[in-house]
Amino acid sequence: MKNRNAVLIFVLFISLTVFASKKSEDEKIEKILSQMTIEEKVGQMNQQNFNALDDNLINQLKNGQIGSLLNISDKTAIDKIQRIAKTESRLGIPLIMGRDVIHGFKTIFPIPLGQAASFNPSIVESGARIAAIEASSAGINWTFTPMLDISRDARWGRIAESLGEDTYLASILGAAMVKGFQTNDLSNPTSIASCVKHFVGYGAAEGGRDYNSTNIPPYLMRNVYLPTFEASIKVGAATVMTSFNDNDGIPSSGNKYLLRNILRDEWKFDGFVVSDWGSMEEMITHGFAKDRKQVAQLSANAGLDMEMQSGTYMENLPQLVKEGKVSVKVINDAVRNILRIKFRLGLFDKNYTEKNVPSEFYSPDHLLMAKKAAVQSAILLKNDNNTLPLKKGLKVAIIGPLADAPHDQLGTWVLDAEKSHTITPLKALQTDYPDVQYVYEPALAFSRDLNKEHFSKAVIAAQKSDVAIVFLGEESILSGEAHSLSNINLIGVQSELLEAVKSVGKPVVLVIIAGRPLTIERDLKNADAVLYIFHPGKMGGPAIMDLIFGKENPSGKLPVTFVREVGQIPMYYNHNNTGRPAIGRVTRLNEIPVEAIQHSLGNTSFYLDSGNEPLYPFGYGLSYSRFEYSNLSLSAQQIKMGDSITIRATLRNNSDVDGTEVAQLYVQDIVGSIIRPVKELKGFRRVLLKANESKVIEFVLSANDLAFWGLDRTLKAESGDFNVWIGGSSVAPLKATFTLIP
Ligand code: BGC
Repeated sequence: MKNRNAVLIFVLFISLTVFASKKSEDEKIEKILSQMTIEEKVGQMNQQNFNALDDNLINQLKNGQIGSLLNISDKTAIDKIQRIAKTESRLGIPLIMGRDVIHGFKTIFPIPLGQAASFNPSIVESGARIAAIEASSAGINWTFTPMLDISRDARWGRIAESLGEDTYLASILGAAMVKGFQTNDLSNPTSIASCVKHFVGYGAAEGGRDYNSTNIPPYLMRNVYLPTFEASIKVGAATVMTSFNDNDGIPSSGNKYLLRNILRDEWKFDGFVVSDWGSMEEMITHGFAKDRKQVAQLSANAGLDMEMQSGTYMENLPQLVKEGKVSVKVINDAVRNILRIKFRLGLFDKNYTEKNVPSEFYSPDHLLMAKKAAVQSAILLKNDNNTLPLKKGLKVAIIGPLADAPHDQLGTWVLDAEKSHTITPLKALQTDYPDVQYVYEPALAFSRDLNKEHFSKAVIAAQKSDVAIVFLGEESILSGEAHSLSNINLIGVQSELLEAVKSVGKPVVLVIIAGRPLTIERDLKNADAVLYIFHPGKMGGPAIMDLIFGKENPSGKLPVTFVREVGQIPMYYNHNNTGRPAIGRVTRLNEIPVEAIQHSLGNTSFYLDSGNEPLYPFGYGLSYSRFEYSNLSLSAQQIKMGDSITIRATLRNNSDVDGTEVAQLYVQDIVGSIIRPVKELKGFRRVLLKANESKVIEFVLSANDLAFWGLDRTLKAESGDFNVWIGGSSVAPLKATFTLIP
């Protein structure tokens, strides 16, 4: 009883504190708002690209015409700008300074797709924390990340920036990133506001062509594309960026239903919404608005608070208010949302001293974490005859254009990186493994290089060595924004280089460093082991070398399905079943008898040339350890709505090597009011197992975890039978069934 009272008093105290701080936040906002002219209000809604700290900019600052700048990361200039805004403008409102700090500021971490391969929320959170510490020391207080677009299409260059194809994984990792950037107190001097983007559906761009239209129907939108955003907003993401694409004919920057009904009314989001670069004025090109004035009217009324760079608000909103086409309330609400985040960030209380604070760039703990993230992001796809890890004393040939490419291993969006700080695999070999004898022959100057002149040198290098390590992949510039590809084989003549090296007859280790899943089926025969690492960032070299020499054991798992042929796209593990699924072996092209009769192949859903299976499934990844799953058991055969069920299995490391396995839980709702996917990830855990150790792993599923948007347009679980699987990938073999009863 005593305890209960104490809890009640505590809850009351917390509620009163929250209420009081909300009240004082509101009071501060209203006080400023009441003094603002319409032009000053619209100024807050205006974000400009930073070009130069010239008279023009200074005048705009003094006149309160800018709410935010982007693309500035010079502390002295930022402080000067903030000081002018704070002390020389009428109302003294500081700017929010935005920057794309996507996977590190100076200490570059693996690209987000690589981070996702770690299946490790804590490492993702640490990466964001470190990026925030470094970026905030340069005066930046807002980052345009995480990108929460689900992507099922490796042609799309921005898959590199995504957290993969799975909604559950991306929701958890995205929320971890938000927490890392923001902590739980935005006013903490090293916190920076996070911006979840691109709201919404951008990853489903038709044909994987960037900026393209999407056609996502309501259930898919609710069950696949929206939850990642909702999860990050639940943990307090301060801002949201609208996407470039239109969905079903409505561009996001003019989509009232998304920005008001879902974001504000349903999710109670109280931060602000910013457009993407030019996404508002592009509504003219889309054919959704006739001119810049209509753009401003549509976006403001839709609930878009701040315009990035295109200036239609500044130009038109005061007039639109006069004409009654945009209400003062719409403007006031937008300004409230922006000021709220500025207050929460403590921008009004900061001293803008123009002095450089001691920077923590590249501090040893940052480097260590970046290396750890790179290690955990590497996926061992193949390891015939235990080629890896390499035994001691072998002479190695280091071959390929990505063995020593300090810029290209960093990946996309590294605006503030310095390639001189990158440690490449070659450099790591030289410094960390001084006893290893090696020869180095890049053979190609960069991944697209078509000059085969030096292939013979690579062949000689392999001949002189015991093993060849061939570093192939993609330069940074081949993935990321506006870098879609229709052919995702290893680019240029890299496959030929690999083939030439393999022809020597020595064991070949293929290391692929890339921004997307490539179609590498044709290359597998030319490699005894394949280590795949999405652009791993600054510490990629040491991470790769430690994995190759066995100081580290691979533990990454695929956050996306690897297809055999580009024509299989989209192919993802959590698809719906057709009425005619192709299960098991299917007839292939060369097996069809000449003049076969129409129905002789079996009428199921597959490709005659590439079959029905991916090359590697979602969740897949090998280890130097051998993991075995057994004894799947359920705490009950039936559960009621509101209850939970515990699912257990034994995981054994049946090898002499310590290792970490990402154990995964999948569920299928067998019959639904709308068809449910054949399998959905519902839990994962990194489990460290000593050599020959066994552990019982446990997942608890509540009925809520089984909920989806169904026929009645609400989020709820439906009673019925469910399959569950536990295993090391999405083709986990251990299966059981339980029933959810009303
Ligand atoms: C991208 C955004 C980015 C913005 C600002 C746009 O082109 O789509 O993701 O945050 O530019 O640099």
